[in-house]
Amino acid sequence: MKTISIINLKGGVAKTISSINIAYTLVEKHGKRVLLIDNDKQGNTSKFFNLHGYEDKSIADLLTERGLDIKSVIKETAYERLDVIPANMNLLRANKEILLDVSRPQQTRLSKYLRQLEGEYDYCIIDNAPDINMSVINALVASDDVLVPIKVDKFAFDGLEQLVEQIEDVKEFNDKLVFRGCFITMFQKNGVNIQGGEYLNSYTDYPLFHTKIRKTVKVDETTFAGKPLLDYKKTTAGEDYEALVNEYLKMC
Ligand SMILES: Nc1ncnc2c1ncn2[C@@H]1O[C@H](COP(=O)(O)OP(=O)(O)OP(=O)(O)O)[C@@H](O)[C@H]1O
Ligand SMILES: [Mg+2]
Repeated sequence: MKTISIINLKGGVAKTISSINIAYTLVEKHGKRVLLIDNDKQGNTSKFFNLHGYEDKSIADLLTERGLDIKSVIKETAYERLDVIPANMNLLRANKEILLDVSRPQQTRLSKYLRQLEGEYDYCIIDNAPDINMSVINALVASDDVLVPIKVDKFAFDGLEQLVEQIEDVKEFNDKLVFRGCFITMFQKNGVNIQGGEYLNSYTDYPLFHTKIRKTVKVDETTFAGKPLLDYKKTTAGEDYEALVNEYLKMC
């Protein structure tokens, strides 16, 4: 199983939309079995698939409890080959609890649980919170690859340096981790977006995917429909996620 963390310390850059659509593209276009992990207390990925709640176990339990069967935390979606580990506000408490419990390693809890799933899924996609906390560090320790969605505006590159530093730090626990690159989301053909892309290409060391995800109002519509783009309507953003996944698969 290959695990990909979708992450950016900034909020609202399309981490969740990208996680959902990259996961579904792998399922629909490449026939892969995908586990999508919601690693954000906001629970947006869980809400998207109508899997948000407090009755059942969630990522918070995996991070704080020993000896669970990870399968007891996994939920099926309406789509074959696409399952979800949900999140809710309990993740807030879990992040504090991990820090207080020094009786066992704090950074490797998720990666240990994911090992139980070897052979069950082809990919695991982790939708992270716009933060660096213990649950995000657990995600990075459990990941092979990191993808960073970027929405181009004045603040677009804030926190990137810190994120790259964090990725380097995590290599102490996980030396297979690779920063595969940034990709531009909510792209509009205007000066700001074009300059932002040029900046990333020429003035920084950060790798940048060639594919840009175009902005379309239909993305907001999919959040109400609870359907990934490829199962909704023909959309530019849906085509772009397909191209992004192809670009990613070619580099691996
Ligand atoms: N390609 C797109 N075109 C138009 N709107 C988009 C696109 N991608 C994402 N959005 C919208 O942008 C908003 C933020 O997206 P999303 O929730 O995925 O960001 P996020 O980075 O996960 O945010 P948070 O940091 O709060 O978790 C949502 O309203 C979403 O519908
Ligand atoms: Mg999100």
